Amino acid sequence: MEIYEQLTAQGDKVRSLKTAKADKADVDAAIQLLLKLKVDYKEVTGQDYKAGCPPSGTAVSNDRQSENGAEEDTVDPWNVATNSAKGVDYDKLIVRFGSSKIDQELVDRIEKVSGQKPHRFLRRGIFFSHRDMNQVLDAYEKQKSFYLYTGRGPSSQAMHVGHLIPFVFTKWLQDVFDIPLVIQLTDDEKYLWKDLSLEDCHRFAEENAKDIIACGFDVNKTFIFSDLDYMGSSPEFYRNVVKVQKHVTFNQVKGIFGFSDSDCIGKISFPAIQAAPAFSSSFPQIFKGRKDVQCLIPCAIDQDPYFRMTRDVAPRIGYPKPALLHSTFFPALQGAQTKMSASDANSSIFLTDTPKQIKNKVNKHAFSGGKDTIEEHREQGGNPDIDVAFMYLTFFMEDDEQLEKIRQDYTSGTLLTGELKKMLIETLQPMITAHQENRKNVTDEMVKQFMTPRPLNFNF
Ligand code: TRP
Repeated sequence: MEIYEQLTAQGDKVRSLKTAKADKADVDAAIQLLLKLKVDYKEVTGQDYKAGCPPSGTAVSNDRQSENGAEEDTVDPWNVATNSAKGVDYDKLIVRFGSSKIDQELVDRIEKVSGQKPHRFLRRGIFFSHRDMNQVLDAYEKQKSFYLYTGRGPSSQAMHVGHLIPFVFTKWLQDVFDIPLVIQLTDDEKYLWKDLSLEDCHRFAEENAKDIIACGFDVNKTFIFSDLDYMGSSPEFYRNVVKVQKHVTFNQVKGIFGFSDSDCIGKISFPAIQAAPAFSSSFPQIFKGRKDVQCLIPCAIDQDPYFRMTRDVAPRIGYPKPALLHSTFFPALQGAQTKMSASDANSSIFLTDTPKQIKNKVNKHAFSGGKDTIEEHREQGGNPDIDVAFMYLTFFMEDDEQLEKIRQDYTSGTLLTGELKKMLIETLQPMITAHQENRKNVTDEMVKQFMTPRPLNFNF
């Protein structure tokens, strides 16, 4: 009720500022606060705020209408969809989720603190949003270390290139900051959500671990765990799960995740299991029982609901709030209206694809921003903003100048779609082949090492 009243007052304020034709910055700031209050309201009540309707006892949510009545992008842990060929409007998402933009200033700061050229994902806005990153850097400058936490839901054997994005970036963070990393494989989550057996989920976790290890993580600095294994073997981890469970109500998870009364209770309590690795005391073997080591979570923005909940609970159970770095989605071959999906073979480039399969998929399925005929294209140029081959190159081509030249040539019409696709194919083929080589060299013994709870090479 308190937030409801604040919201009503803030709505009035925005209207009066607009009527008074106030400074744009003031109006924007007032709207920002309004949207933040709406997010808070929804978290607390499980309902969308409606002017004139005070909160009621039952949650009805999920209408995806924005202020001006336009359909909003769908972004939650299970669905990503937009009507725009350019993809999700990430600036709007920052406002809706109440996170902060990774601006040039922050990228420069990361460069200064780490002493390394920022990763291309930072230079190109692929990691675009954050929570509390400045705090992490402040502490790091004062010799206070932190740790990284990321994860994967092992829903199948087949991983695609989009799945590698958080891991490639996390590897870079681990290298430049020299800090511990924990990787959660949520085999329990996939069992609860999908029509799969427990044993299959557990097996997929071990198979996926091989692809993750193939990204080059250091076994002395990295702990990978399956929930099904680690939950039962670590009293400290389970204690944290229970603490989180006690501090989140059914109404709250309904509001955050859209659960309904007919969802199984495993789903309803699962968010506590994804929250627990954000607290250092869940890993006493690594942090020697310390509960105050700050956590930084690199993840795709769709995982943010889990961590909004985690950050809300943390101070109430005596832990620091985890910081976050959010990435955009990796677009499907058919276009940026949705992300790559492992269940649709033609939407994805798999890590097991042969050079020939890669070539065929890109040529046949990659949505083109080029014109229908060569003549038209030469004359009017293509649109790189909706062109999937160009988007993929922004993820994987290292050279900024080369990429910029491609963008200009494609826009002017000098570069044809076929030529652009050829460049992508020639970028992807060696990259995937190298991954396959690395994965071949990952033995069962190595997987076991990474997945054994043990001290890492850090003194806490
Ligand atoms: N829920 C995630 C998924 O389905 C897996 C996950 C667990 C994760 N913990 C994480 C992802 C931390 C990013 C960061 O893919």
